Amino acid sequence: MGIVFIVFVLFLLVAYFFLSRTASPVPYFPSNQRDMERIVDYLELRNHHTIIDMGAGDGAVIFAAADWAQQKKLTLHLIAAEINPILLAVLYLRHLLHPYRAHISIMYADMFHYPFSKVVYTKTVTAFYYISPWLLKKAYSHIKHELPHAHIVSYFYPLPNKKPTKHTEGVHQLFAYFS
Ligand SMILES: C[S@@+](CC[C@H](N)C(=O)[O-])C[C@H]1O[C@@H](n2cnc3c(N)ncnc32)[C@H](O)[C@@H]1O
Repeated sequence: MGIVFIVFVLFLLVAYFFLSRTASPVPYFPSNQRDMERIVDYLELRNHHTIIDMGAGDGAVIFAAADWAQQKKLTLHLIAAEINPILLAVLYLRHLLHPYRAHISIMYADMFHYPFSKVVYTKTVTAFYYISPWLLKKAYSHIKHELPHAHIVSYFYPLPNKKPTKHTEGVHQLFAYFS
């Protein structure tokens, strides 16, 4: 009986973190693996550059970038910002096991409020978004306030009223806005 109750409470907690609009205003969907090569290409990984995945989920993008950086012997700073504690646990675990972990920061951060300027030390930075289209404007205002020179890469949805620097079709669309 005790175990059933604990499992039920755990189930409610997981459901809350994944389904509640308060706990996670953007639902969790990982970027499609078949688009990952294009995403990594759009991030334009190079030495002394920072990439922030705004709502990193299970780390699909940040660890694909880490694999690439390690393979190419690049020195990058990769930041996974996430608000869901269960996904944060997954991120910390993957971080612990990844050979490039010294260059990866996992952060409990609300992408709409976190002071990102305090954690970015490189001259250039790219913010990656895969979030609901109606939240992109708010996310864009915050990142431009924090990091005015940030490049933006947006998966699936374009930024409202902004002309992309480049754009491709894949399983889903990908848009880059370089400053
Ligand atoms: C569509 S998923 C994208 C996951 C990952 N970026 C990828 O491309 O595979 C959106 C993620 O944003 C997270 N999220 C939602 N609201 C957030 C917030 N305010 N701050 C940080 N992360 C948030 C969700 O928990 C979810 O993992």
